[in-house]
Amino acid sequence: MRLTGGAVAFGLLLPGAAAWGSLGHITVAYLASNFVKEETATYFQELLRNDTEHYLAGVATWADSIRYTKWGQFTKNFHFIDAKDDPPTYCGVDFDRDCKEDGCVVSSIQNYTTQLLDSKLFPWRRNQAAKFVIHFVGDIHQPLHTENVARGGNGIEVKWERAELNLHHVWDSSIAEKMLGGIRRKPYEAAHTWAANLTSEIKTGKYMAESKFWAAGMDLDDPVATSLGWANESNAYVCSTVLPEGPVAIVGQQLAGEYFEKAAPVIEIQVARAGYRLAAWLDLIADRIRATSNTIGVGEL
Ligand SMILES: *[C@@H]1O[C@H](CO)[C@@H](O)[C@H](O)[C@H]1NC(C)=O
Ligand SMILES: *[C@@H]1O[C@H](CO)[C@@H](O)[C@H](O)[C@H]1NC(C)=O
Ligand SMILES: *[C@@H]1O[C@H](CO)[C@@H](O)[C@H](O)[C@H]1NC(C)=O
Ligand SMILES: *[C@@H]1O[C@H](CO)[C@@H](O)[C@H](O)[C@H]1NC(C)=O
Repeated sequence: MRLTGGAVAFGLLLPGAAAWGSLGHITVAYLASNFVKEETATYFQELLRNDTEHYLAGVATWADSIRYTKWGQFTKNFHFIDAKDDPPTYCGVDFDRDCKEDGCVVSSIQNYTTQLLDSKLFPWRRNQAAKFVIHFVGDIHQPLHTENVARGGNGIEVKWERAELNLHHVWDSSIAEKMLGGIRRKPYEAAHTWAANLTSEIKTGKYMAESKFWAAGMDLDDPVATSLGWANESNAYVCSTVLPEGPVAIVGQQLAGEYFEKAAPVIEIQVARAGYRLAAWLDLIADRIRATSNTIGVGEL
């Protein structure tokens, strides 16, 4: 699902064909705001001109809202990288093979991270770059945003309870919404609660041990290698969990039962990783900016 610009203001969910659902993106953003350093929060609250706890969550779906506008068309390929692999036999993302000429999610994380670090750019450009980075770090953790088969599963019809949906939509939205017992048109509240739960699971719960490694190897000077690692890890789930018997076998299957039971833990850990990594990435960016400038401000607005 995606939010239209107007719908964001009313917090309404509208059906649509694109991108990790709003619930996933907003949860990733709330989660990140629970993990960033205080100085990082201050920096991005100023850049995004929002000093509430919603400063990241409120802009997490902006990139989807402009994607189908005339102005935003150039960003349409920035939300994914189409791995030309062969699930379930072989998975793996290759940057040179898979990133389209006009960009992909990996090159876009690089592009907009670089812009965020460029103090010569006007603050409105860095504001926009922040919104793209927040969104794309979410997208890259959705396995079907790293897969070429049937346009990331958009062309695979499946059953979901009594509905017919495409597989991409099931992974963007349906699985997460079912896990939370439905979100009753209130994605921000549902995401806030989910993020609080995942924050505890990371700090003191089931993800406490492994989350220590989630930010390992992150290199602000090599955003392509860093985000390619995330994409490759995400894409591995296409072979293990998304298409365990291949793209033909899944057509027409009911996915809200046994399949859901196996998919839900993958969605959960991917949202947890995305939020945790987004926080670490924003920390690196804010640290670098502080180290290279005399003030912690964002410059004249
Ligand atoms: C901050 O963002 C939230 C969520 O988008 C919004 O409801 C609120 O009005 C914003 N606050 C300010 C001061 O802009
Ligand atoms: C990508 O994933 C594949 C299998 O899923 C693995 O064999 C390969 O080593 C990984 N490559 C990188 C660069 O992480
Ligand atoms: C980088 O971002 C700018 C500003 O949004 C955009 O015009 C440009 O096409 C992007 N470049 C690539 C390679 O994605
Ligand atoms: C998170 O939610 C799950 C599912 O409702 C629950 O089993 C778990 O105890 C919660 N974790 C925390 C730390 O609250």
